Amino acid sequence: MSFRFNFSVNEDEGESDATSEELEEVHSSNPAPKQIDPLKLDPIPISAELIHYSDHLTLLKRQVHDAKLEFCQNVELEDNNSNISKTITESTDLITGVYEGGLKTWECSLDLCAFLSELDFNFKDKTVLELGCGSALPGIFCLTKGSTVYFQDFNEEVITLITIPNLILNINFEKLMKEIDLKEAALETIVSPQEEEVLKSRRCRFFSGDWGSFESVLRSEEKNIKDFDIILTSETLYEKRNYKSLLTVMKNLTKKRNGFCLIAAKANYFGCSGSLKEFENLILRDEVFNWEVLKIFDGNNVRREIVKLSWKL
Ligand SMILES: C[S@@+](CC[C@H](N)C(=O)[O-])C[C@H]1O[C@@H](n2cnc3c(N)ncnc32)[C@H](O)[C@@H]1O
Repeated sequence: MSFRFNFSVNEDEGESDATSEELEEVHSSNPAPKQIDPLKLDPIPISAELIHYSDHLTLLKRQVHDAKLEFCQNVELEDNNSNISKTITESTDLITGVYEGGLKTWECSLDLCAFLSELDFNFKDKTVLELGCGSALPGIFCLTKGSTVYFQDFNEEVITLITIPNLILNINFEKLMKEIDLKEAALETIVSPQEEEVLKSRRCRFFSGDWGSFESVLRSEEKNIKDFDIILTSETLYEKRNYKSLLTVMKNLTKKRNGFCLIAAKANYFGCSGSLKEFENLILRDEVFNWEVLKIFDGNNVRREIVKLSWKL
C-alpha cells in the first residue's frame, strides 16, 4: 500500500512535509495513463445542481455526493484499492498522489469560466486542452462554443464520474433547464453517453494519468495530433513537485503560432508547497513563456488570478 498523508487546501492546515522517499512511494501508486472511451459508459442517473455565477454564466454540474454514491454502489469499498475508494473511506478531499480533489469544482475553475465567457474570442474550431480538468467546466464552456476539447485528469474515476456527466449536462443545457426545479436549483436526470452526438463525433477526448506521461500516451493514441491553440488549467499549482511536468506539457503541446495557456489559481495554497509566485519564478527562470496577469479576483479570502502564458518572440 502506498504512503499517503492527508492535506487539504485549507488555511487552517499546517505544512505538508513529505520526504523524497515518501514522495517516491506516492508516485509508485500512479495509475496507468490511458485514453477513456465515453461511448463504453452505461447511461447514468444523476443529480445535478445549477451554478449561477453571473448574469453571463450559468452552468449545470453533477453533485459531488451523487458521484460518490454511484461509485459506492458499484464497488465493494473495503476490497477495492481504487483511488476514489480511498477518499470515500477516509472522508477526505485530497490524498496526495492518489486522489487530488477532482470531484469538487474549485473556485478558480468558475473564475476561469467567467473570464472565458467575457473574452472577445472566437472559440469555434479551436483545439483546447484542459489539464487536471476535474469537473472541467472551463473546457466544457469552450466545447459549447465550438472548440474541440481534450480533457485530462489524474484519476480515471474523476473523468467517468464527473467530467463526462458535466459535459453532457451542459451540452443539453437548454433542454434540461425546462426540467429543472428552479426553487431548488436542482435536477434529476439520466445522461446517456452513447446517445450524445458530440461524443460520437469525437469533438472531445478524455485521458487519465499523470502529466509526466500524458504527452507520450497522447502521441501513441493519436498519431496525427497537432499542438493546441489553448491550454487551460485551474487550481493545479498547489504542489511544487508537479510544476516541471505541468510546464513541460505546456511547452510541448502549445501551438507555436498564437497558442497560449490560461492558468486560474490562488496566490497561496496554505499548507501546501505551491503558490502563483513559485510558478511565476519557474516561468521567469525558464525564459520560454511570457507571464501576464489578465485578471485578479480580490475577495475576502485569498487573492485569485487568471494568468496567460504566451511564447516569447
Ligand atoms: C484541486 S483539483 C482542481 C480540479 C479542477 N481543475 C477545478 O479547478 O475544479 C486538482 C486537479 O488536478 C489533477 N491533478 C493533480 N496533479 C496531477 C498530475 N500530476 N497529473 C494529472 N492531473 C493532476 C487532480 O486529479 C485534480 O482533478
